[in-house]
Amino acid sequence: MADSFEEVISQIKDRLDIVDVVSGYVALKKSGANYWGLCPFHNDKKPSMSVSPSKGIYKCFSCGAGGDALSFLVKIQNREYKDVILELAEKFGIELPKKFHSSQETKDQKKEMIKACSKAAKFYNLMLKSADDANKAMTALRARSITDDIIEKFTLGWAPNKYDTLYKELRKEFKDEILEKAGLILKSNSGGWIDRFRNRIIIPIQNESGEYVAFGARAVDEGQNPKYLNSSDSLIYNKSKILFGLNSAQESIKSEDGVIIMEGYFDVISAQAHGVENAVASCGTALTQDHVKLLSRYTKSRRIYLSFDTDSAGINATKKGSAVIKETLSAIGDIKQFDESHISTGVDNKYACEIRVVSQPQGKDPDEFIRTNGGEAFKEYVKNAPLLIDFLLNNTLKEKNNAKTPQQKAELVAQIIEILKDVNNKIIQSEYVKMVSSVINVDESSMLKELAQYEKFGEAAEFFRPNPKLVTNSSQFEIKAQKNLLSVFLTNDSPLTFKQINELLPENIIQDETLIIVKNTIDKFVCTINNVKELTKSLYTEFIEDDNLTRVITDMIELSEAFNGLEPEEFERAVIENVDRLKKVYREKETNALRQKYKSVNDDEIEALKIQMQLRDKIKLRTGDK
Ligand code: CTP
Ligand code: MN
Repeated sequence: MADSFEEVISQIKDRLDIVDVVSGYVALKKSGANYWGLCPFHNDKKPSMSVSPSKGIYKCFSCGAGGDALSFLVKIQNREYKDVILELAEKFGIELPKKFHSSQETKDQKKEMIKACSKAAKFYNLMLKSADDANKAMTALRARSITDDIIEKFTLGWAPNKYDTLYKELRKEFKDEILEKAGLILKSNSGGWIDRFRNRIIIPIQNESGEYVAFGARAVDEGQNPKYLNSSDSLIYNKSKILFGLNSAQESIKSEDGVIIMEGYFDVISAQAHGVENAVASCGTALTQDHVKLLSRYTKSRRIYLSFDTDSAGINATKKGSAVIKETLSAIGDIKQFDESHISTGVDNKYACEIRVVSQPQGKDPDEFIRTNGGEAFKEYVKNAPLLIDFLLNNTLKEKNNAKTPQQKAELVAQIIEILKDVNNKIIQSEYVKMVSSVINVDESSMLKELAQYEKFGEAAEFFRPNPKLVTNSSQFEIKAQKNLLSVFLTNDSPLTFKQINELLPENIIQDETLIIVKNTIDKFVCTINNVKELTKSLYTEFIEDDNLTRVITDMIELSEAFNGLEPEEFERAVIENVDRLKKVYREKETNALRQKYKSVNDDEIEALKIQMQLRDKIKLRTGDK
């Protein structure tokens, strides 16, 4: 039996053959030492994905996806890595360490909890129809145009304003412990048990398979706080992985090939009740990466509509939500950035995902809009929903009349560039620039120049901006140089030991945030590991949940090739050269930052002089470089 989860992963990896694994999904053709095939993670036209049996990795030279056999499986199946591992362990007959078995006891408990929640949902539903004080709940629901059909479809209910209505009923059948774990009852101050939900409209939450696992409970009285009381996470409920309405929406999400994410329970209830079936909401929490992964299992094109309130809070939620979606899915490829109807480019219309924003008229949430105007009217807005980029541009351009001074205009342009910099296709980007520059009356070519500068220097362009923002990440070049340097650790048959390599690296030579994580992890491993193969395997395992870090490791393995077969002195010289090159880049960056600072403190003479001196020193140092 394996004694740790890491050991299980390691045993699985020993049994996975990268060529076999990838061949299960992609037709591969051998060419030289490697195999090639169409990359399944972007819309690949000619084979850009290589599989190296000797290194045990795959890498796409077009979209940059890469990793080992296990990370390929996790990525292509788009599932939780733990589930994939458990399945593989079973397939290969690897016995799991005890603590990873969901013990029979826990399984029984979960079953009981689900049963209790289901009973509770039905009981609350009955109470809505029969309790003495259910009238005000019914009135509130009717005021929202909730019909009896809707009440039954969502098993809406009423928790009466008494301390033990539910408890008295469920204690006949369930142990206190189960009811407490399911979040249905609480210990009272006097030590007895009381109902958790009282004097509230009950909205049961079902998981993907339709089992009742939690509740949202809305206040009915003026001043009753909080507005919603939600079940806490439990053995059967994890709010960052469950979406309200998904159980009833899944068929429609598949057939529409798109999902509408809303903010509230009642938005979804109204939508689904009025024929907009593919609507879901997170339950009293912000959208998470797990939510997005879950949804992308149902919509093939990963078409996601964000339909939040149209006020400024809603716009912020749209920005936050779309950032989470991008983070989750951009590793797979491009995000759709133009509408065919908008500009015809002849570019194939396959994307990693498509984010659209449904913005029904101002001041209304989807619930209110649908109740007033009906499901069909809402569907019209969905049909015409702009892409995220168009929505953001429009929203920013609304400010154009407030931008009068050159500084204000520059700030507006900076905001627009922030949006346009993500557009990969240059033709589309320049079309946007054309359009925007005429709208805000800014010279098109200077805007293109700004954008080009941003792209050339990457994040480092922040230094040249009038008012540098906080981000001071490394430029692409710097990152590459740092990766290159770290890749010496992954060189096969390296003539130096890990310790000898470390002695060649000055402190703080790695400055990129991500690469610092990699370096620290390498440092941690090389205390106990002394060969490259083990180190690579351990790094992949350590970063299995992180697509980006997995890519970085794969890039490093590629880069390490350059150091293969070098004699010890040559190897050492190569490392030192890389270190020197990086140092030079850092010095230039500092100089630029100082120049910038110098410009901005021009009116403070002493401060300016000080910086001038520092700048002179830097430049002196640099002319010392060859
Ligand atoms: N929410 C919550 N706790 C709160 C407020 C809100 O969990 N105290 C969550 C609920 O999931 C709610 C969603 O955020 O459905 C949206 O909040 P809000 O717009 O305030 O509620 P609505 O459901 O739209 O209620 P109403 O239309 O009655 O104002
Ligand atoms: Mn609302």
